Amino acid sequence: MKIIRTSVGLNHWFNEHNIQINKSLGLVPTMGALHQGHASLIEKASKECDLVVVSILVNPTQFNEKDDLDAYPRTMAADVEIAKAAGCNVIFAPTAEDLYGGKPKAEPVNWGDLTHSFEGKCRPGHFDGVIAVVDKLFDAIKPDKAYFGAKDLQQVAVVQKMAQIRYPNIEIVSCELIRDSKGLALSSRNIRLTNQGVKQALKLSFALSKVVEKISAGESEKTAVDAARNELKEYDEIDLEYFNGVNFHTFSHEDKPFEWSHIVVAANVDGVRLIDNIELEVVD
Ligand code: PAF
Repeated sequence: MKIIRTSVGLNHWFNEHNIQINKSLGLVPTMGALHQGHASLIEKASKECDLVVVSILVNPTQFNEKDDLDAYPRTMAADVEIAKAAGCNVIFAPTAEDLYGGKPKAEPVNWGDLTHSFEGKCRPGHFDGVIAVVDKLFDAIKPDKAYFGAKDLQQVAVVQKMAQIRYPNIEIVSCELIRDSKGLALSSRNIRLTNQGVKQALKLSFALSKVVEKISAGESEKTAVDAARNELKEYDEIDLEYFNGVNFHTFSHEDKPFEWSHIVVAANVDGVRLIDNIELEVVD
């Protein structure tokens, strides 16, 4: 496995190996602090593509709070081992200045609720930064397929829209959300949770599965979601940002329960911001 730290180095490597001509290329964009969720993306990419590039960059433009950017875990040595074991061929780990070709900045993008509701509302400018960095990565790497985890559900929808508009030849592959044995959605931020925090965080995934159980048992979507939201609000240790039904394609607050495809949640637990979601049924 090769580790490349500059865009120029990446271009050399591509040219030397005739990459974009002869081989199918999969990209797994990450911010590092890799875990089994990332490993599953890399494994899927390596089954489906001749070569897999994993990008590692803690992208400053998608953080709306400097403390959150500073506290984001950086674990490069461990990342290299995980990526290699999962089938990565190249780690591309540029500096932000290198990838952006100067001071990192993101143009504002407004695709209505898709970019401005839920995560877009709680983290103003977040999707501008995600779109900017993924655009730079797609432009530099020109993958055939790019792999994103469904834990960041709204991000998948936003990137799909971006690719449709700007990179119609790149297929966006949404990969299953991975949980630990207790049900906690895997996230790079989980490293920052204390044991007590993990217990509190589990209440989020528990609430999501309870809603699905209740709906399967015949309760109305809205009643089940409202009850779970009210219950989560009762816990002092959980600072709930949202717990809602959404349609994956719109992320609108106005969606009617019969249009919901997922339940999404975001909360601060133990000083760590966590998101999670569960699928209700496949809605095309
Ligand atoms: O999901 C992430 O880790 C990031 O948002 C991404 C897609 C790598 C862009 O920085």
